[in-house]
Amino acid sequence: MPKLGVNIDHVATVRQARKTNEPDPVWAAALAELGGADGITLHLREDRRHIQDRDLRILKETVKVSLNLELATEDKVIEIACQVLPDQATLVPEKREEVTTEGGLDLTINTPKIQSAMNRLKDQGIIVSLFLDPTLEQIDLAKQLGADAVELHTGQYALCRGEQQHTELVKITEAAKMIRERGMTLLAGHGLTYSNVQPIAGIPDMNELNIGHSIVSRAIMVGFEKAVADMKQLVTSA
Ligand code: PXP
Repeated sequence: MPKLGVNIDHVATVRQARKTNEPDPVWAAALAELGGADGITLHLREDRRHIQDRDLRILKETVKVSLNLELATEDKVIEIACQVLPDQATLVPEKREEVTTEGGLDLTINTPKIQSAMNRLKDQGIIVSLFLDPTLEQIDLAKQLGADAVELHTGQYALCRGEQQHTELVKITEAAKMIRERGMTLLAGHGLTYSNVQPIAGIPDMNELNIGHSIVSRAIMVGFEKAVADMKQLVTSA
């Protein structure tokens, strides 16, 4: 049964729209735990457009489930991760102009920089996950670089419909098998919603799904705890 990691970035997006102190992602994380979240995920972006350093530091003290920090392979943010010590770090590509993370990390580019970031995190005992597109080349490289886990990018699956979506699901299912065969932990996320999550949750040995935007969107209507509980129910019954 997959675990549910709740990404709280967009609670901070609403706060940053006014640069005030509400809504507080720390409060949202506590409600997510009450709703059944197995993990809390946050992305400390270089431009600090949503999550702030203060959020990360407080969440490290308050979150009782697993804390997963998404970050780029940039020195300054790697240094912060090594000081704060989240349970897991997920390396993602980051471009200033993007609306959200577009595509997985490309391990064929800047490989020494990625390896060095991974080593620094692993030396601190942090589990390292890589956010990758579902291709054999990337998965093999992840293994060679010593990744503990791979989070498969489900963004393309989420964008497609019908036959095309089925093709994407097959691609993700095959990539998932490769990850398991190479002894790495299998995660998936991006663009998952209440209506498209179950086929991904049903992939054999899926360890965890990371879901943010859809949960925060529903939370505005029904409350954070219920929005998380609704998603948890779908994920665990797939
Ligand atoms: N996983 C990763 C690596 C991400 O970068 C994001 C977006 O921050 C998510 C999962 C969650 O995506 P969404 O907000 O579309 O659920």
